[in-house]
Amino acid sequence: MGTPLTAIYPGSFDPLTLGHVDLIRRGSRIFPRLVVAVLRNREKSALFTVAERMEMLHEVTAQMPGVEIAEFEGLLVDFAEKVGAGALLRGIRAISDYEYEFQMAWMNRRMAPALETVFMMPGEDYAYLSSRLVKEVAAGGRAVTGMVPPAVEARLRAKFGETAASARQRP
Ligand code: PNS
Repeated sequence: MGTPLTAIYPGSFDPLTLGHVDLIRRGSRIFPRLVVAVLRNREKSALFTVAERMEMLHEVTAQMPGVEIAEFEGLLVDFAEKVGAGALLRGIRAISDYEYEFQMAWMNRRMAPALETVFMMPGEDYAYLSSRLVKEVAAGGRAVTGMVPPAVEARLRAKFGETAASARQRP
């Protein structure tokens, strides 16, 4: 397995939220090389294509040194080996994240014992933020300002039309 100085931050990023951006920032302060990896095989049920998700990630992380954007298919442990990563970075928000995250971490450890999963907490402003809820809010015509980067907000508005996202600010 690779050096722990390279970490992968994997996810669906459909779409990227400010919680993800916060984790990328925190991770890039610890790992000199951080590969943000977008999972490919969920495209059918996704709102954004992998290409769109990668484009948004590129835009948002352009000024962050050591951050790379990639896509992957199949098992994460195989991708980690391919890029020479020694660590997997995952964000933990509420207690409800733990079970799913621990299952994944244990399974990944079984397959790749030297690959270490590292959990980090996002800033408290993002503790209850998720891509799924952001999509629901935007689809329902409410603003998602402060939940996603402006580049993502603009794309959500484009997807859901004029009545969506920040176009219909209600009290
Ligand atoms: O953002 P998400 O949807 O919580 O990310 C989940 C992700 C992409 C990390 C997970 O689904 C994954 O690693 N998929 C790749 C397939 C794999 O390796 N499965 C075994 C994990 S135990």
